[in-house]
Amino acid sequence: MANQVEAAGATTAVPAARTGCPVTGYGRSGGHPPPPGVADERRPEPVDPAAAEEFLHQVYAETEPETPLAERLRQVRAEIDRSGTYRHTAHELVFGARVAWRNSARCIGRLYWQSLQVRDLRHLHDPADVAQECVAHLRAATRDGKIRSTMTVFAPDAPGRPGPRIRNDQLVRYAGHRAADGSVIGDPGQADFTDRVAGLGWPRPQPPGRFDVLPLLITGGDGRSRLFDVPPDAVHEVPLRHPDHAWFARLGLRWHAVPAISNMPLEIGGVVYPAAPFNGWYLDTEIGARNLADRDRYDLLPEIADRLGLDTRSERTMWRDRALVELVRAVTYSFDADGVTMADHHTESERFLRHLAREEAAGRSCPTDWSWIVPPMSGAQTPVFHRYYDEPDPALRPAFLAPPREW
Ligand code: ARG
Repeated sequence: MANQVEAAGATTAVPAARTGCPVTGYGRSGGHPPPPGVADERRPEPVDPAAAEEFLHQVYAETEPETPLAERLRQVRAEIDRSGTYRHTAHELVFGARVAWRNSARCIGRLYWQSLQVRDLRHLHDPADVAQECVAHLRAATRDGKIRSTMTVFAPDAPGRPGPRIRNDQLVRYAGHRAADGSVIGDPGQADFTDRVAGLGWPRPQPPGRFDVLPLLITGGDGRSRLFDVPPDAVHEVPLRHPDHAWFARLGLRWHAVPAISNMPLEIGGVVYPAAPFNGWYLDTEIGARNLADRDRYDLLPEIADRLGLDTRSERTMWRDRALVELVRAVTYSFDADGVTMADHHTESERFLRHLAREEAAGRSCPTDWSWIVPPMSGAQTPVFHRYYDEPDPALRPAFLAPPREW
């Protein structure tokens, strides 16, 4: 077995055994024992019965399960008494996952919350199985460009048996390779993570590129972490070009089709699913006005402004603003031309207000974080800018949680 990598703990490097075989498949099985004393152990708490009950009441208030509520409450209480946790029915899992999306105060795309497809893989604990199903998730969600909102749920935390965790913040991310002079080739936002996986034995592509897909770093319930490649044919990418400027394509820019967040634990009725990657589809500005434009990301505006012939000597020429519009146009144009689902900030803002109205009609509050919902360009040109919202409530459940710092 070539290029196996196995490590204990988040930051512990174990030299990889390399035999010169292609990297695909390293970490599949076997590997080095973890160095002593560094196991990355977690001790999940028993489920709070009150959280379980509150969730079940919500399930029965909004949907009509077959089992009567009183009976289901008895089952769940008994299961928690016995084992410290309980198993959601498939119906509860899907409902909980969808409501966690509905509760996501930073998401502008929540109109579609009921369409989330849930892949129930709660029986999977082993990092190799998790990796394989993350890849299958990407294929199922991509559908040749007709992106479908999808979540894959792996084993939950249970007392005495933590679930697996995905350490990447998204299933697909581009490496940030730090050069000797401090500059970064690729995505500077991933430079720390790239150093980490390289330290664990990831063989960086040679020469390092600007769009090298990072491997998955997955920690099993035993605290041992392993690396797995994401096969290129599971990563749909769009080469970026501009409707009016032929030179734009020659910049060699690209972006992947599926944004799949992978490090936010999902909490439903007191049960925590530490690995529950989920995706929607991209909004034009996420790529064009942030990932490729932010000064601490790809920082492409100076180069694009230059090619556009703009005067970059003074901020007052608004060269940044003008270059930004053309970059976002190129992103939207390229995704459209390739038939890959992409939202635009004007349309999605209107849809979000429709969602808000629907939630209000259903008698629910819709927690919303203004600073995340208002697009990073042309804010006041979109209707979401011109109003206030219900404050996000950190105690609201079901929810996607911020990854705990100690992870
Ligand atoms: N902003 C993140 C990115 O650019 C993706 C976050 C999720 N976005 C989405 N449309 N579901 O990669």
